[in-house]
Amino acid sequence: MAAALLAVEGLVRRYRADRPAVIDGLGFTLEPGEWVAVMGESGVGKSTLLNLIAGLDSPDAGSIRLDGRELAGLDDDALTLLRRESMGFVFQAFHVLPYLSVGRNVALPLELNGVPAASIATRVATVLADVGLGDALDRLPRELSGGEMQRVAIARALVHRPRLVLADEPTGNLDPRSATQVLELLARTVRAYGGGGLLITHSRAAAATADRAVEFDGRAFRPLSPG
Ligand SMILES: Nc1ncnc2c1ncn2[C@@H]1O[C@H](COP(=O)(O)OP(=O)(O)OP(=O)(O)O)[C@@H](O)[C@H]1O
Ligand SMILES: [Mg+2]
Repeated sequence: MAAALLAVEGLVRRYRADRPAVIDGLGFTLEPGEWVAVMGESGVGKSTLLNLIAGLDSPDAGSIRLDGRELAGLDDDALTLLRRESMGFVFQAFHVLPYLSVGRNVALPLELNGVPAASIATRVATVLADVGLGDALDRLPRELSGGEMQRVAIARALVHRPRLVLADEPTGNLDPRSATQVLELLARTVRAYGGGGLLITHSRAAAATADRAVEFDGRAFRPLSPG
């Protein structure tokens, strides 16, 4: 059987010894190409979970494997490389660099991965066209709307075709209509680029753009109840 894209087992994260663990015994698997929405109350540990999967924080117990590789066995350099090559991030705070053009912003992950300049130009143009910003290459982020800026963030998260996409409330500061459009675009682009990943969201409309949706309570992923 092919390895899961992501396999999490017995995950525990406790920030303080005198408080209950935030994440307590979580296990789930994500198949390659699966795009899953994760809902759950504020403070339940959703961002904590993404930080652990990204290797930005370490669990107190349990295992996280990406394509069969255990993250706990990797040192900081290996984790940085893994993030750079195999992961893409979309956050609410865009992290789009204001003094770089849209094209330069989107080119960054490819530059960091040492992709040759000639193929960078082609790939940046392609992904910008895919997110409907084919004419924005030379524009500066401050000249864009919130929805356009978030599409730049999506282009940048996907341009290197990461195996795993991690999105944390990517449309939290967009109006509902732009939010739905951006999320449909994100789901489409993740599928087109062959990745899988987790979409953290508070919105059922947003969750409906994913392949499946789960409710997270710190202990388990449960299928989202209807209604
Ligand atoms: N670095 C930290 N040190 C101590 N406690 C933390 C830290 N980060 C998060 N927490 C606590 O862990 C719990 C889970 O936080 P987390 O940010 O993962 O929640 P969340 O599900 O993402 O919430 P939201 O939907 O509001 O973004 C909260 O009680 C939070 O206060
Ligand atoms: Mg959060």
